Amino acid sequence: MRTPEIPTISLNTQSHVQQASNIILKVEERFNDRKFRQAKVQSHYCTTVMKEIGSRAIEIINAVKVAMATSPYCIVIRDIQTSVGRAYIAGISAALGEVTEPCNLESSLVIRILQPHHDRKEGTFGVLSESFHTDGTDWQNPNDLTCLLCLQADEFGGGESKVMTMDSIIHSLKQSRHQEFSYDEIRNKEFLWKLDENLGGGDFSAPFLTSDSIRWLKHNLLSVSMLNPHGETDELIQYINTIIEGNTDHLKFSMRAGDLLILNNKKLLHARTLIENPEQSCRKLLRTKVLYRGST
Ligand SMILES: [Fe+2]
Repeated sequence: MRTPEIPTISLNTQSHVQQASNIILKVEERFNDRKFRQAKVQSHYCTTVMKEIGSRAIEIINAVKVAMATSPYCIVIRDIQTSVGRAYIAGISAALGEVTEPCNLESSLVIRILQPHHDRKEGTFGVLSESFHTDGTDWQNPNDLTCLLCLQADEFGGGESKVMTMDSIIHSLKQSRHQEFSYDEIRNKEFLWKLDENLGGGDFSAPFLTSDSIRWLKHNLLSVSMLNPHGETDELIQYINTIIEGNTDHLKFSMRAGDLLILNNKKLLHARTLIENPEQSCRKLLRTKVLYRGST
């Protein structure tokens, strides 16, 4: 099976105004992450950015919606002006649903800046974003979409983006014909996941894979099983990890400044390639997590 190429759509058309308007400059300048938690503020950013995009706004949002429902469950919107990038990611994310961050700590930002030297590292697991995963595995209901806007790419070409569809993983699980772990056994099987400490901690159970969604972060599953080892499940986690990390049917691409990658976090795993020197890298992304309205 071969995953189709990622659709791309450009904001930079002849009819599009190249210069950022005063209105978008003002909302960029006045952005306040705490206030952005409020629905009315999200709605204001949505309206402002949709006006800035102009006549193609509906076409673009519809293209994103179609992409989220069709393999490879992601899309790249190109040529966003990075000087007003925060306003754009805020407005486009808000057009798709509720921009969310369930931890209500001062330090928990709704629009997070991702830089390699801050990427989460966990002992022998290394940098978590370098292995395939979905976001929000330590939330009861993970975010539906993840949006990543590249403000600056790694100057040495590191940190390429990688995505792998759940369809491709299902195909690999079916092909493997493992004696103990059949696809039918794995599908809908409940695993224990670690709940974010700031959401109460402890653990909860949820499937890794159902017929229409996937949740995966090896580190999360193994950090629960290390506290309460149960041999067969550990073997199964390692088996799934081998299938995923060994699956060559994934897409790899470079994001350039002004690219906004929007991915369906319930259908697609993502990762990035190694960054040789994270302390020196100038790679800088903005990230939002979006819940569909009415999603539980
Ligand atoms: Fe991620």
